[in-house]
Amino acid sequence: MKENHFDHSGLPKDRVGYGVIGAGWMGHVHARAAVRLAHHYGDLPLRPVLMAVADTLPEHRDAFVNQLGPVMAYEDWRSIVDDPEIGIVSVTVPNAFHAEVGEAVARAGKHLWIEKPVGLCAADCQRVVTAVRAAGVQAAVGFNYRNFPMVERARELIDSGAIGSPTHASFRTLSDYAADPGGTLSWRYTYAQGGHGILADLGSHGFDLIRMLLGDIDELVADTSTFIERRPIAKPGSSHFATVDVLGVGIDFGEVENEDHFCAMVRMTNGALVTYEAGRTAVGDQCNYGFQIYGTQGSLSWDFRRSDELSICVGDGYQGRPTQVAYGGPGDGEYGRFQPGAGVAIGYDDSKVIELARLLQSIARGKPIGATIEDALWAARANEAVVASAATRSWESVR
Ligand SMILES: NC(=O)c1ccc[n+]([C@@H]2O[C@H](COP(=O)([O-])OP(=O)(O)OC[C@H]3O[C@@H](n4cnc5c(N)ncnc54)[C@H](O)[C@@H]3O)[C@@H](O)[C@H]2O)c1
Repeated sequence: MKENHFDHSGLPKDRVGYGVIGAGWMGHVHARAAVRLAHHYGDLPLRPVLMAVADTLPEHRDAFVNQLGPVMAYEDWRSIVDDPEIGIVSVTVPNAFHAEVGEAVARAGKHLWIEKPVGLCAADCQRVVTAVRAAGVQAAVGFNYRNFPMVERARELIDSGAIGSPTHASFRTLSDYAADPGGTLSWRYTYAQGGHGILADLGSHGFDLIRMLLGDIDELVADTSTFIERRPIAKPGSSHFATVDVLGVGIDFGEVENEDHFCAMVRMTNGALVTYEAGRTAVGDQCNYGFQIYGTQGSLSWDFRRSDELSICVGDGYQGRPTQVAYGGPGDGEYGRFQPGAGVAIGYDDSKVIELARLLQSIARGKPIGATIEDALWAARANEAVVASAATRSWESVR
């Protein structure tokens, strides 16, 4: 169903049509990144032009068009896949649709910007990997935490040997968005729509950060929990931040089908041991995402809520050596694209601008820069190992 029309035909050579499938939270974040891209990356050889959105809910289409400008608005996502003027597509629908939509986008020869976790399971993700490879298109995955400049500085320090050989680390992605028992049963809580709950949601981010910073994962042992087993039925399309009063009259409840929390002990192929905890019901923890990494000669720590700071302990000696806080500056990752001097923290939306810029650079160079579709497959395999380990009570391979 076509609701708006804005004629973008005859785009200049350095422009490419861009469409968004799924106009919820992430659909808006992706589209905003496209609108802002040239503000920060004026030198890109190719720029996206936002041309269309698809969403099954009319009110979400209307809100998108109202906020992001006159674009074609479709009920059926296939209208975007079929549009020959569109060359880049964001897939920001619930996890259950990633495989079908991502595969169709790649098969249509369009470059893909797809949200994590890329499907409900590793087999779903593999479908998209296969389609992307067969079509020879570029694909970027929404692992935006790896784009923060001080996470990139951490990787450089580790790679340069500044902390010696990594020995052990702790990672966390803890959130309170599901802590309220009145948080409604959105798609995130059903297996058919969301897959493995917190694993799909924050676990995929955490495993991606672990691999980005410390290399491949060998094996892991883990356990999972669901602390809130029933939730009030959600209104269609409501966000996972929506709540109702559980003591209210006439409230219908449904079963939570997936995990609220997991803890994993992860052995890296380089021998380092990582503990990783992820949860969505951590009362008082708003976006407590970060890591502490120890090596034979130093340590590093980072907290998303203070994204521009990296605590660094490197240098001579051991006992009593101080830890210093470094603030991000133009030499760190893509920081210089946003600010000319150190200490102006870049934000969540900025990390998405970086993600999109890297997709455009990947298209221009014909090879991936940034998080790839294969990275999503590794994260999906780690998530499956968590589920398997919780069932078998034993170590599971992630190779
Ligand atoms: N990278 C990150 O930090 C991050 C953060 C949040 C969400 N995500 C991911 O982004 C994706 C979307 O999450 P969200 O929070 O934006 O969800 P959301 O519920 O806010 O939005 C999903 C949108 O998709 C629409 N939709 C559902 N089925 C559809 C279909 N068949 N065709 C077209 N539209 C359809 C819904 O109406 C809704 O507007 C998920 O895969 C999630 O894991 C990533």
